[in-house]
Amino acid sequence: MNVDLTALIEAANRAPSVHNIQPTRFRFDDERTITLLEDTSRRLLVGDPEGKDNQKSLGAAFEGLMLALAARGLGGEVQKLKGDGDLRETICVRIATGGVSDAFEPITRTRASYRGAFAKPNDVDHAALAQISEACPDLHIVEGPDALQHIARVFDDASMEVLRAPAYRAELLSWMRLSPKHPRYERDGLNAAHMALSPIEALGAGVVLGPKAFPLLDSVGLAEPLISESGKVRSAAGVALFHRPVEETEFETGRRFYRVWLEVERAGLALCPMSVLADVPRVAQGLLRENAIGADRKLVTAFRIGRRPQGWNQPPRARLPVDELIVKAA
Ligand SMILES: Cc1cc2nc3c(=O)[nH]c(=O)nc-3n(C[C@H](O)[C@H](O)[C@H](O)COP(=O)(O)O)c2cc1C
Repeated sequence: MNVDLTALIEAANRAPSVHNIQPTRFRFDDERTITLLEDTSRRLLVGDPEGKDNQKSLGAAFEGLMLALAARGLGGEVQKLKGDGDLRETICVRIATGGVSDAFEPITRTRASYRGAFAKPNDVDHAALAQISEACPDLHIVEGPDALQHIARVFDDASMEVLRAPAYRAELLSWMRLSPKHPRYERDGLNAAHMALSPIEALGAGVVLGPKAFPLLDSVGLAEPLISESGKVRSAAGVALFHRPVEETEFETGRRFYRVWLEVERAGLALCPMSVLADVPRVAQGLLRENAIGADRKLVTAFRIGRRPQGWNQPPRARLPVDELIVKAA
């Protein structure tokens, strides 16, 4: 079996990961066995203390790997692992023949988070949302100005709630690359271009989220208007509440996370996750209740969805080089 392992890893690592931390590492145990490991040193200890988002990110990378294998006519026998330590073994894939190419695979090449304001929604966008809703029963789509205004307000309030913790802001800032001069700008984290921030806005974001300015601005009611993403939420064609069975593992949820995202892009639309809506339990429960989503479901995140404006230039993907993702077999 002749497989270009570097190309496989590059494809797997196109998957989304929380804050673009890219926690998945790959080990080749022999020429047809790949083990995926979690680099626990990249966990968000404040924002994700239980490592749930890491597990979702690993699930997404695994889905990316399986899509890449299928595109080469390959599949794999899969074995779940329960590793520990700094590099935790998560899953092992023994590559085999017989994979069937998946229509999503080509979309992995262009999928990207879109964090700007959307183009004014038209009938085609709403029809695309209906198509997505049909294809994905785990996306509950909310449309209409009043409903979007409500979610925008809940999102800003929930964002403020988490941002008031200095440790949360410090951790977020540590993954932001606000200037192209940042040494990791093209490697990982959230860079200014991907956050759709102009140089001035990026500078401002660094100041507003800083340890001194934020409490001061908050005390005079200025922090919320400065961090508000309300306009971006209201510009969306709709918001999709992504819900999964409560008992599903975070890893499996992550696989699905990637596939619904690819479904949105296949329909010609773009999205930005708003995970804070799921991270604050009271807020998540409120949204599930208001939308009559059953108690046997968990809110994974909410996606604001719309069309990228004409002329939007997608910045190059920020990713670690493949050789840094490979762990040597013992
Ligand atoms: C579990 C998970 C949660 C995420 N939550 C958010 C979020 O709340 N806000 C956001 O802007 N992006 C969020 N993202 C998207 C990542 O930041 C994004 O995938 C990463 O920066 C890589 O960029 P790309 O999607 O353009 O490849 C999330 C991704 C994952 C896997």
